[in-house]
Amino acid sequence: MPNRRKVFVTFPVLPSVRALIHDHCDAAFNETGRTLAFEELLARVRGREMLMITVSDRLDRASISRLPPCVRIIATYSVGHEHIDLAAARERGVTVLNTPDVLTDAVAEIGIFLLLGAARRATESISLLRNRQWSGWSPVQLPGKQLSGKNLGIVGMGRIGRAIAHRARAFGMTTHYCRQSPLASSEGVWHRTNAELLAMSQFLVLSCSSSPSTREFLDCAAVAQLPTSAVVVNVSRGDIVKDDALIGGLQSGKVGAAGLDVYKNEPQLDSRYFDLPNVFMTPHIGSSTVEAREAMARNLLEGADAIERGGAPKNRLT
Ligand code: DGY
Repeated sequence: MPNRRKVFVTFPVLPSVRALIHDHCDAAFNETGRTLAFEELLARVRGREMLMITVSDRLDRASISRLPPCVRIIATYSVGHEHIDLAAARERGVTVLNTPDVLTDAVAEIGIFLLLGAARRATESISLLRNRQWSGWSPVQLPGKQLSGKNLGIVGMGRIGRAIAHRARAFGMTTHYCRQSPLASSEGVWHRTNAELLAMSQFLVLSCSSSPSTREFLDCAAVAQLPTSAVVVNVSRGDIVKDDALIGGLQSGKVGAAGLDVYKNEPQLDSRYFDLPNVFMTPHIGSSTVEAREAMARNLLEGADAIERGGAPKNRLT
């Protein structure tokens, strides 16, 4: 077929996603099962107009300056885009696309899963059973915390934060957030400062994007402002949390439990988390549903088509 967009995809995809990409493009895939070194990526992208990457690929200013001029679109298979130097891409006239909206529900569901798992001591419950140590029902076994009637503070009241808040209200929680200006009152209680928000967050969800202003947001001072025994959930990026602060809080009981899907230095996360029974962990699977993965591919392919037609897709970052 003439004039099919030539794409190089740096990451593994589900069979249905592969079919979708093949339907739209002349696609080549990284089949190595590992993240490519930049030199390898450069060799593979030669002669291709579109580069599909994901969060494990880093495109800093130096790398972007070395991309062949044929690369007109960088499409990241993620909503997060902190791994790409957007200013450098813009200066080079390269369009960057990401996948907003389509993974909101999937990540919001993981947010609720982590809230429930942390609050109801899922790690200890599962270990008890799997280690064949359960001796039967007892009224004092693994008492957890109920979500209903509690305050949930949301750090990052964007699409994902609002979707988590929506679901949390169905569990009987009161949702709180801090942002420059208030949203409709149905979205929760507005706070002017993070200090005010933290002080009343019996449960706290981190759903903000990673940026210089949010990195290590949850440090020792922030942990100290939380109510004693608060439950902390992170579905955004590991670098929002200062590991020493959260682990110290979990060890002392200041933080009652944590539900974590993302970690600093993935996959080499701070190994102290593995030994804390009050941590419920998933391996960065927030957006990992078949529905979201397919929609993410469609989002990028449709964005690229729109650009070709001179349109301005919603998922265009540069
Ligand atoms: C995202 O989209 O940013 C996720 O964290 C990776 O799937």
